[in-house]
Amino acid sequence: MFDEHLNSILENIDARHERLPGGWVFNCDNRLVFEALPDDCIDLIITDPPYKDYQSNRPVKHEKVKKILQSDFDLPFFVEQSARVLKPGAHFYCWCDHLTFPTIVGEMQRQKGKWKMENGTKEPCHYLTYKNCLVWVKNNHGSGDLKGNYAPQHEFVIFGCKGERGRRLNGKRPSNIFDARKVSNYRHNHGTTKPVEILQKFIEVSSEEGEVVLDPYAGSMGVGEAAIEIKRYFLLTEIEKEHYNNSIIRSHK
Ligand SMILES: C[S@@+](CC[C@H](N)C(=O)[O-])C[C@H]1O[C@@H](n2cnc3c(N)ncnc32)[C@H](O)[C@@H]1O
Repeated sequence: MFDEHLNSILENIDARHERLPGGWVFNCDNRLVFEALPDDCIDLIITDPPYKDYQSNRPVKHEKVKKILQSDFDLPFFVEQSARVLKPGAHFYCWCDHLTFPTIVGEMQRQKGKWKMENGTKEPCHYLTYKNCLVWVKNNHGSGDLKGNYAPQHEFVIFGCKGERGRRLNGKRPSNIFDARKVSNYRHNHGTTKPVEILQKFIEVSSEEGEVVLDPYAGSMGVGEAAIEIKRYFLLTEIEKEHYNNSIIRSHK
């Protein structure tokens, strides 16, 4: 399990939660959890924030798949806190699309510049460095402007690290292109579920057994499922009760 210090901090957070054999799941605004966490305590962040109001054509007709509101996303807070809680050199993965990619990377670079101006380059540091753009190529494409625009068939993942030099990637050097089938919105009653095989690859190359992965925008808990199978611990927060309940059910399957 997590180290005892982290466990005792999490136990004292005043929010609905489950402590599972593989980790912790909180049903609350991630602010509560971020604010309770000490500096330099998390080995890896993989997350998928609500960077746009999302509801694809199918969920509109399907009440069970709840709309995700972009208004819940506080980008400066998320970048600042991610940088603070990660251990030095730890990796940061953030799903986004082509429109939000520059906004998120821009915020990472703005905070890094500010940190360096105020604190110089000496360690320890609490900023993120952008390293690469990973691409998920899907087997299908989304809708949109059917006659006047290209069919969107990819999603992006921002890859970065805490501080200047990230830890080494485990194993053979991976390509930054990932092929995987889209996950049906109905499978976990969530509109933006990500493929577990890609999440697992990120976890494998960026952490060791027994380390802790944080997903502050957990949705249907894909990061939890991916982490358990390869013996990493997870810390997840999800603000919506329905998604939280579904994710607990998923964790017991
Ligand atoms: C894009 S979805 C993530 C989906 C996830 N990748 C999956 O595979 O299911 C973003 C999630 O973050 C949740 N969320 C939004 N704001 C939040 C906040 N402040 N704290 C915790 N969760 C939040 C939303 O309810 C939504 O389920």
